[in-house]
Amino acid sequence: MKAPLTSSGAAGKRAFSPPKATVRPVTVPPSSAQGMTPWLVVVLLVVLFSGGLFGYDQGVISGALHGIKATFSLSALLVEVVTSWVTLGALLGALSAGELADRIGRKRTVLIAGALFTLGAVVQAVAPGTLVLVAGRLVIGAGVGVAAVAAPLYAAELAPPAVRGRFVSAYQLAITAGIFLAYLVDGWLSNSDSWRIMLGAAAVPGLLLFGVALVAPMSPRWLMMKRRRADAAAELHKIHPGANVEPQLDAIATALHQESERASWAVVFHRQWRCPLMIGIGLAVFQQITGINAIIYYADQIFASAGFATQSAQTTATTWAIGGVNVLATLIAIAYIDRLGRRKLLLAGLIGMAISLVVVGIAFRFIVTPAAGAAATGPSAAGIVTLLALVGFIICFAFSMGPVVWTVINEIFPGHIRGRAVAVATAVNWGSAFLVSQFFLTLIGAMGNSLTFWLFALFCVIAWVWIYFRVPETKGQSLEQIQLLWKKAS
Ligand code: BGC
Repeated sequence: MKAPLTSSGAAGKRAFSPPKATVRPVTVPPSSAQGMTPWLVVVLLVVLFSGGLFGYDQGVISGALHGIKATFSLSALLVEVVTSWVTLGALLGALSAGELADRIGRKRTVLIAGALFTLGAVVQAVAPGTLVLVAGRLVIGAGVGVAAVAAPLYAAELAPPAVRGRFVSAYQLAITAGIFLAYLVDGWLSNSDSWRIMLGAAAVPGLLLFGVALVAPMSPRWLMMKRRRADAAAELHKIHPGANVEPQLDAIATALHQESERASWAVVFHRQWRCPLMIGIGLAVFQQITGINAIIYYADQIFASAGFATQSAQTTATTWAIGGVNVLATLIAIAYIDRLGRRKLLLAGLIGMAISLVVVGIAFRFIVTPAAGAAATGPSAAGIVTLLALVGFIICFAFSMGPVVWTVINEIFPGHIRGRAVAVATAVNWGSAFLVSQFFLTLIGAMGNSLTFWLFALFCVIAWVWIYFRVPETKGQSLEQIQLLWKKAS
C-alpha cells in the first residue's frame, strides 16, 4: 500500500519530511502567537462578515422566491434564473478574485466584495422588474465569489500558524450562521412583498464589511510579494506588537525567492504545483458531491417526504435541525482543528457522514407516502430516524468537510500562485454545488430517495480513501513550511 501524504506519522515522514533549515522557523512571541491582538480581531471581523454574507445570500432565496413569483409572475425558467444566477455570479466572481487578490492585494479585494454585496442587495431590493432583479442577483453572486476567495485567503495569510485553522474555520462558522439567519428571516417575513426586505437586508453587513476592510491591515505576505518589505514589517508590527518580525519576513522572502517571479495562469497549472492543485480541487469537489447542499437547499422537501406534513413542521425542522445544528457543530472544528489537525477531523467526519447517509437511505425504504387527500398524521418512526440521521450528517460535515476543506485550500498553495489557485478551487466548489443542487431532484426522480443518499455515502467512502492517501497534515506549520512539502513530493 502506498503511504499516505502526511508530514506527521512514520509513513508520512517518509513521503513528506520537509528539508531542514531551508525556511527558518517563524518566531513571534507566545503572547501574540496565541492571544488575540486588536488587529487580529479586525481580521476576524473581515472573515466573519464575509462568511456571514456568503451564507445569508445562499440561504435566503428559498424563502424570498414565493414573494418574487407573486410580484413578477415569473415563468418556471425565470424562477430558475433568479435562483441560480447567484451561483453563476459567484463562479465569475471567484475566478476574477484570484487575479485581483494577486494584483491589487487581499484587503482591496475584500473591499470590492463589500461594495458588490451592498450594491447587489440594494439593486435587488428596489428592482422594478425581473431584468434588474437578475442583474442584482448576478452582482451579489459576484460579491459572494470574490469574498469566498479573498476572505479566507486573507485570514490564512494573517493568522499565526498556531491558530490559522481556527481563523479559517471562523469563516465557516459565519457561513453557517448566515444560512441559519436566512432560515429564521424566511420564517419571520413570509408575507408576499417582504422579499425586498429579505434580499435588501444584506446591504447592512455589506457596508459593515466594507468599513471593517477599510481599516484592516494589509497582508504582509502580499506586500512581500510586491517587494514592499518595510510596509510588510509595519503591518506585522501592527498585528504582533513588540514581536521580532525579521525572521518571519526572512522566511517569507526565502520562500518567495524560490518561486518563479511571474504568477501567470500557466504557472498555476504547471506540473510543479499539480499536487497541491489536485488536492485543492479534489477537496472542493468532494465537499459538494457528498451531498451537503442537497440537504441545505432541499431540507424542507426531504422532511416533507419523510412525513413532516405541514409547512410549519418542515420549516421548524429545517431551521433548527439543519441550520441551528450546523452552527453549533462548527464550534467543534474551531476547538479542535489546530489541536487534532486537519486529517483526523476530515477522516472522522467522513465516516460519520457516510453512516448517516446510509441510515437515511434505509429509513426511506420504510417511509410510506400517504395517499393524496389523506389526513396528515405527522412523521412516522422512519421519518424521525431520517431527521436524526440528517442531524448526524450535518454535525459530521460541520466539524470536518465544511471548515477543514476551506482551511486546507487556503494554506496549501505557494504565495505567488495562492490567489489564483484558491480561486480555481473555489470556482470548482461553486460549479459542483451548482451541479448537485441542479440535479438532486432529478436523481431522486430517477433513482429514488434511498439510492440517491447511498450514492452520496459512496462518495464519502471514495473521499475518505483519497484523503487518507493524498492530503497531508498541515497543522501548526507556517505557510512557507507547507510549501516545502510539494518540493519534496515532486
Ligand atoms: C460549503 C457550502 C455549504 C456550507 C454549509 C460550506 O463550507 O462551501 O457550499 O452550503 O458549507 O454549511
